[in-house]
Amino acid sequence: MKIIKNFDLKKILNLNIGGKALFYAKVQNLPELEEILRWRKTKGVNLKILGKGTNILMQEGLFEELFLQINIDYIFPQDQILRVGAGTHLNRLIKFCVKNKLKGLETLWGIPASVGGAIVKNASTKWGEISERLSNIKVLDLKGKKFTIPKKMIPFSYRYSGIKDLVIYEAEFKLEKTKESLDEKIKNFFEYRRSTQPLEYKNSGCVFKNSLEFSAGELIENVGLKGYSIGKVSVSLKHANFFIVKEGARFSDFYNLMEFVKNKVKEKTGIELEPDLVIWKI
Ligand code: EPU
Repeated sequence: MKIIKNFDLKKILNLNIGGKALFYAKVQNLPELEEILRWRKTKGVNLKILGKGTNILMQEGLFEELFLQINIDYIFPQDQILRVGAGTHLNRLIKFCVKNKLKGLETLWGIPASVGGAIVKNASTKWGEISERLSNIKVLDLKGKKFTIPKKMIPFSYRYSGIKDLVIYEAEFKLEKTKESLDEKIKNFFEYRRSTQPLEYKNSGCVFKNSLEFSAGELIENVGLKGYSIGKVSVSLKHANFFIVKEGARFSDFYNLMEFVKNKVKEKTGIELEPDLVIWKI
C-alpha cells in the first residue's frame, strides 16, 4: 500500500481547483482498501472518499485528512446481473451494457463519474437515475466491517442516497435483455446534452439541484445572470446552471459566484437553491 504525503489533489479534480491532501492513496482492490482503512483507524485521521473527482469543488490549502481514491475496476456479468467494482467508470459500464444488449443504464451515458460516486449522488438525467437498476451495494464501514446493503434499505431520492461514513467497493445491477439498438439511444441522449450544455468547456456539471417545481438553469437565466462572472469563473451562456472555469480560477471565484447566484435567485424569487456539487472547505 502506497500512501503519498502532501499530494496535490488539484491535478486530479475535474475543475482543476483545490489544495493538498496530507495523505492520499489509491486502492485497486478490496484487500488494499481493507489495509488502508486499518491504517486510518490507527492514525485516527478523518477520511474523504474520491471517485473520479468530477463533482467536487475544493478549497486551496492543506487538508489534514486521508483522501482515498477508489479505483476498484471490474465488471463480472452473470446473465442480466452485473457485479461492478465501485471505481469502474460509468461510461465503461454503459458501453459494456450496450455491447451486450442490456437495457437500463443507457440514459446515464456521458456522465463523468465512477459507479460508486454515481450511487452516492444518485446520478441522474431527465430519463433515469442510477438507483433504478441497482440491486445492492457492498460496503465497508470506517472500522473495516463488511456489509451488503440491499437497495430498499437506501433512502434514494433525487440526487440523494443518504450514504455516509461507508466505502462502497462493489455494486450489483439487474438489467433487462433487449433487442433494441442501445447505440442509437445513447447517441440521442448525449446529443440532447451536448446541444444544451457547455460540454466543450471545462465545467463542473450542474452547480445547483433542480426541484419538482423548477429547473435551476431556468431560474438563473430568468434573474439575468447568464454570462455573469467573478474572477475566472462565469455563468455559462449556453446553460445557466453550468459555470465555466478558466485557467487559473480560484476556489473563491467559484464559491463567491455560487453565493452571488444563490442570493440573487433568493431575492428575486424567494427560492433557495441547493448545491449539487460536493464542496470541500478546510
Ligand atoms: N433552461 C433555461 N435556461 C438555461 C438552462 C435551462 O431556460 O440556461 C430551461 C430549458 O429550456 C428547459 C429547462 O430549463 O426548459 C430544463 O433544462 P434542461 O433540459 O437543460 O435540463 P436541466 O433541468 O437543466 C437536468 C439535470 C442535468 C441533466 C439534464 C438532462 C439537474 C440539476 N440537472 O438539467 O444534470 O444532464 O437534466 O437530463 O438535475 C448534472 O448533473 O451535472 C446535470 C447537468
